[in-house]
Amino acid sequence: MKGIVLAGGTGSRLFPLTKITNKHLLPIYDKPMIYYPIQTLVDAGIENIMVVTGGKNSGDFLRLLANGKGFGLKHIDYTYQEGEGGIAEALNLAEHFADGEEICVVLGDNIIERSIRGAVDAFRAQGGGARILLKEVSDAERFGVAELAGDKIVGIEEKPLRPKSHYAVTGIYMYDATVFDKIRTLVPSKRGELEITDVNNAYIHEGAMSFSFLDGWWTDAGTFDSLLRAANLVSQTLHQNSTEKHDIETTAV
Ligand code: DAU
Repeated sequence: MKGIVLAGGTGSRLFPLTKITNKHLLPIYDKPMIYYPIQTLVDAGIENIMVVTGGKNSGDFLRLLANGKGFGLKHIDYTYQEGEGGIAEALNLAEHFADGEEICVVLGDNIIERSIRGAVDAFRAQGGGARILLKEVSDAERFGVAELAGDKIVGIEEKPLRPKSHYAVTGIYMYDATVFDKIRTLVPSKRGELEITDVNNAYIHEGAMSFSFLDGWWTDAGTFDSLLRAANLVSQTLHQNSTEKHDIETTAV
């Protein structure tokens, strides 16, 4: 399976922080934002990774990440999105990289606490189709929201005024090779973007969409509040882990 991190767009919701740099290069506590989605893929055992960048500062990704040695990778592929035509448009640029294989896509501003390895293994075992990760949230209207009927997902609405559930669709998506055929059928939404929610609904209509619930905390980091929240969550988790490590070491002595 190949991994794709989507780090295009202009980050207009974070203006003026994003006036002279790309949103995904901003710090989340002690690391640039882009480190987290790459680590998510690496922790899931995915080592063949493409980063889709964009904007005026795309060259900085290469200076920062180079060939991914810091993540234990041999190589990172890069491509460039002109403008901000949407998540599905950015993903479409990775078709030649995917080259018919299954893919795991992570949005560049999605940060998680734990591993997605279980969901990736479940996707490998399901034999095609798609799998998304859901998380129960109190502000579902900010996200794509899943409507569930028993253990089935029957539809997703993008940022609904009245969400049908508390289950946000996180920015982690697994697809078979038909995803690119589905993207070709899309038309721009009201906000002028090719929506990943339309891709996911196409899989749902085919009966080929499954889902897992994400363990641990999850946040995006595309607004001032979520950027701060992400930094606080990372900091708390690091401190908690180092306290637990210290306690184990002290007990062992
Ligand atoms: O965070 C999860 C949510 O992400 C999902 O629940 C929504 O269904 C999905 O549409 C998306 O919502 P946002 O409106 O928050 O997405 P945003 O425009 O902030 O883009 C998220 C990331 O996707 C961004 O950090 C980089 C990448 N992206 C986005 C656009 C619009 C691109 O690479 N190119 C783009 O043109």
